[in-house]
Amino acid sequence: MAGETTAAKSGTRPAERILADLFGGVVQDPFPLYDELRETGDGVHYSPLLQSFFVTRYADVRRIATDHGTFSSDLFDVTPAGTHDPADAEHRRFAEIASRLFMFADPPVHSRIRSTFRTAFTPDAVERWRGAVLGATASLLEDFEPGSEVDIMPRFAADVPVAVIASILGVPRDAWGSFRTWSFAYASTFDPMVQGERRDEAIRTSLVLFDFLAGLAEQRRAHPADDLISTIVHTKTDDGDVLGEVELIAQIALLLVAGNETTTNLIGNGVTLLLDNPGARAEITAAHGLLPKAIEEMLRIDPPLHLTFRLLTKDATVGERHLPAGTLVAPCIAAANRDPRAFPDPGRFDIHRAENGKHLAFLHGIHFCVGAALARLEGQVVFEELLRHYPGFGSGAEPAVRRTLNAVSRGWEKRPVLL
Ligand code: HEM
Repeated sequence: MAGETTAAKSGTRPAERILADLFGGVVQDPFPLYDELRETGDGVHYSPLLQSFFVTRYADVRRIATDHGTFSSDLFDVTPAGTHDPADAEHRRFAEIASRLFMFADPPVHSRIRSTFRTAFTPDAVERWRGAVLGATASLLEDFEPGSEVDIMPRFAADVPVAVIASILGVPRDAWGSFRTWSFAYASTFDPMVQGERRDEAIRTSLVLFDFLAGLAEQRRAHPADDLISTIVHTKTDDGDVLGEVELIAQIALLLVAGNETTTNLIGNGVTLLLDNPGARAEITAAHGLLPKAIEEMLRIDPPLHLTFRLLTKDATVGERHLPAGTLVAPCIAAANRDPRAFPDPGRFDIHRAENGKHLAFLHGIHFCVGAALARLEGQVVFEELLRHYPGFGSGAEPAVRRTLNAVSRGWEKRPVLL
């Protein structure tokens, strides 16, 4: 793939320099760099590190998501989780299952598998899980002492999504602790920084998770219960069949990786936005009914997932670039969500923003997030309960620290809060 040698046409420094800073592992706040890249040239720039063209403008990112015939998702092999050693039996078994995630598939494979989720994740169906989300959130919040300082990232934001998904999948209560450990290990296989012995260990633990999920699915096949695994096991695809065993385990595991870190980031980012915007926070505290709109604005201005990837199946033009089939592109959701061409005054946190229904935090098109309704419900319950239990919460004395090493899923590593 040809590298980009041209310097910025309209920016003040070359795009290569900005990209090197952006992915250098030290930038705390990537948004000013996204702004610079978006306004440099056509907003499309080659990153040697990502080996892809980084796409920053709203219209381009949305078009890539929409045109799935040109921009393929069949790219598991180029994700960090796709890095495995074919000579190692455990790696081979891991890849056999992990490569079947429908997120990394195009139609017809994608549409067949996705059709099994259609009924389970509608907003009405998800509403049935409100009790489970409330139970998980309240019990975690009640563990804290009013007046104490807590780093909410490891102790709350990371725990809520795991407790929620364990509860709605139907994981028995006594297995929640292990389930949490296994889920984090599997998620870490998607982190490019997890290599060598750490990666081997994460793969071994993921296999334990896969076996556990297979056992649970087997039980529910024989004895259906009122839980998500039973629904998925028994729902027919659009082709009239049910998912095979390997396909099934892969999709259930996908729910964990796709929903955990993203929702964790929504909580950390949202808490930060409430701390930084006392006016909006006062309005929400006075009227919790504003929360759904506030959450959409949190998702727009600081989306949990910053970028994704697509592979060109045919030649195409992106921005002003004519790119050949086989090129990788990296549409940047976080840059698109602050494109002034789509959102006036995009850096302002405005919970009354009229146009934020079109933000791309859950993307767009056939891969639009399956769990969006659940994530929105979790956000509403979490912020409502946080404001109810600790209405005066403020910043902790310890400084907050953003994660800098993962360019795909940026969020807070530490977010100390005084309750
Ligand atoms: C705030 C939280 C969340 C955000 C920001 C988010 C964001 C996204 C995005 C951007 C995609 C598209 C990825 C791509 O095609 O490249 C996606 C897909 C997906 N998400 Fe989410 N997600 C969140 C929560 C969840 C939850 C809670 C679940 C399930 C429990 C979930 C399950 C999925 C699945 C299964 C896909 C694949 C859909 C497909 O390929 O058709 N997500 N999500």
